[in-house]
Amino acid sequence: MTAKEGQVKALLKSSSEAADVIREHVEAGGLVRVESHLDADGLAAAGIMGVALNRLGARFVIRIERWLDEQVVKGLSTGRQDLTIFTDMGSGYLDILSDGLSGKDVLILDHHQPVGELPESFIQVNPHMFGIDGSRDLSGAGVAYLVAKSLDERNVDLSYLGVVGALGDLQDKNEGRSLGGVNTTIVKDATEAGLLEVEQDLLLFGRETRPIHKALAYTTSPFIPGISGEEDKSLALLSTLGIKTKDGDRWRALRDLSKDEKRRLFSGIAEYAASKGLRSEVAISLIGAVYTLKREEPWTPLRDAREFAMLLNATGRMGKNGLGVAICMGDRGRCLQEANRVLEEYRLTITKYLNWLAENPDRIEELNNIYVVHGGTSIDEKVISTISTMILPNLPNPEKPLIAYSLIPEEDYIKVSARASYPAIEKGVNLGEILHSASERFSGEGGGHDVAAGAYIPAREAESFIKYVDDLVGRQLSKGEKRIGDGS
Ligand code: C5P
Ligand code: C5P
Ligand code: ZN
Repeated sequence: MTAKEGQVKALLKSSSEAADVIREHVEAGGLVRVESHLDADGLAAAGIMGVALNRLGARFVIRIERWLDEQVVKGLSTGRQDLTIFTDMGSGYLDILSDGLSGKDVLILDHHQPVGELPESFIQVNPHMFGIDGSRDLSGAGVAYLVAKSLDERNVDLSYLGVVGALGDLQDKNEGRSLGGVNTTIVKDATEAGLLEVEQDLLLFGRETRPIHKALAYTTSPFIPGISGEEDKSLALLSTLGIKTKDGDRWRALRDLSKDEKRRLFSGIAEYAASKGLRSEVAISLIGAVYTLKREEPWTPLRDAREFAMLLNATGRMGKNGLGVAICMGDRGRCLQEANRVLEEYRLTITKYLNWLAENPDRIEELNNIYVVHGGTSIDEKVISTISTMILPNLPNPEKPLIAYSLIPEEDYIKVSARASYPAIEKGVNLGEILHSASERFSGEGGGHDVAAGAYIPAREAESFIKYVDDLVGRQLSKGEKRIGDGS
C-alpha cells in the first residue's frame, strides 16, 4: 500500500466510525441536529446528511449558519438534540466548541484546517488529520458523502453532491480544471452510478441548451469583464468572430458549434481578455473538465455541476438557504423555480458590484504584500465572499493575496474574505492561519483554508487588522522564499 492509499484508508476508517455514532443515536431514538455552512459546499453537505438521516428514519433538524461563533454555540448548548453534526464547519473553532459543548455528543465532518484541541466526547472526520489536503482534495460535502456512504450503500446516489460541493469550493485546481485527490473517488462513484459525465470542453454554463451568447454571459468563473454578465456584448463578440448564433429560428448552443467554431470562439475570448489586461491564465481556465449531471434536465442550472454550485451559493448568500437544502434533498419542483429566481437576482447583484469596482478602481488598494478591496458599505457583506473569489484571478500580481471587506449593517463589525492564488500558496502563504491569528489579536473570529479564509472583526479595528495581515503575509512569503532558496 502506498502512503497515499494508507491516508485514504485511515480517512475511510474514521468516516465509518462517525457513521457508527450516527447509527447508534438514531437507533436509540435520539434527535440529531445538523449544523452547516451557507455556501454551496455547506448546503450540499447538509443535503447529503438530510437524505442519509431520512433513509435511516432519524428524527433530525438542519440549521444553516453564516459562520461559527459563541452565539451559535450558546444556542447549541441549550438545544434538545442528542447528537450535533457539524458539516463543512467546526474544525477551525474547536476551542469555542469545546467551551460550549464539551461533554456533549458532537460529530465534526469538515475539511477546514483544524485549530485547537478536540474534546473527548467529540469525533472529528477531517482529511487534514490524515495528511490529505482539505483545501484541494476533499470538500465538506465530500466528507459528509464518505460518512453517508458508510452508513448505507444506497447513499452512493448522493455522490453527485460531493462533486457539486468540491466544485463550489473551487477544488478543480488540477490539470485541465479537474478534481483530484479523494475527490477522484467521488467522481468515480458518481460516474459509475450513471449520475455524472466528465468531458473536456469550453466551460460555458448551459452548453447543451442555452443560446451561446447567454451561456457566455452566464459564465462568471473566470470573470471576463465585458462578457460575463453582458448578453448584448457577448452577442456582438460572436458576430465579430463570424459565429452564427441561430440555425433558422433556433438559437444555437455551444454543443452545436463545430470544433473550428469553438477554436475561433476561444481565441476571440482570449484576445479580448488580453486586450482588457487580463493574464493569459484567465482565458485558459475557460477550457477544462465539464462535470455534467446526467439525471438533471439539460435546460436547468442543475445540469452543469459548477452552475448547480452557483445556484446553491445564490440561495445561501441571498438569505434563502432553505431552498438550497431542499434542492440538495431532491426537490425539483417549486423550490427549484424559486431558486432560479434567486439565482437571477444573485447574478445581477454580483455583476452590479463588479461593475461598481471597475468604475471605482481606487477601492482596490495595493499594499506591500496584499491587495485590499474596500467594500465598506458599498458592497453587501453577504456577497463579499463571491466578489473576492471572482476578482482574485483578474489582479495583476498572482503572488499577492486579496483581502476584501464590507461593513455588516447594524453590527459594527466587518466581514472579511481573503483569497490567494496558487503561486502565493507555493511560496508559503496560508490565509487560514493568518486570518486566525490576526482575528485573535483584534477581538474577532477567523480562519479557513490556505487559499481561502474569512473573518469577522470589530469595524474599529479594520485598518490595524489589514495592516497586520499585510505584515503576516510578508513574513510568510519571505520564509517561503527562503525555503525554496534552501532547496529543501
Ligand atoms: O467553507 P468552505 O470551505 O465551504 O468555503 C470555501 C470558500 O472558499 C468557497 O466559498 C470557495 O468559493 C472559496 N474558494 C476560493 N478559491 C479557492 C478555494 C476556495 O475562492 N481556491
Ligand atoms: O466567507 P468566505 O467565503 O470568505 O470564507 C472563506 C473560508 O473561510 C470558508 O471556508 C469559511 O468557512 C472560512 N471562514 C472561517 N471563519 C470565518 C469566516 C470564514 O473559518 N469567520
Ligand atoms: Zn467547504
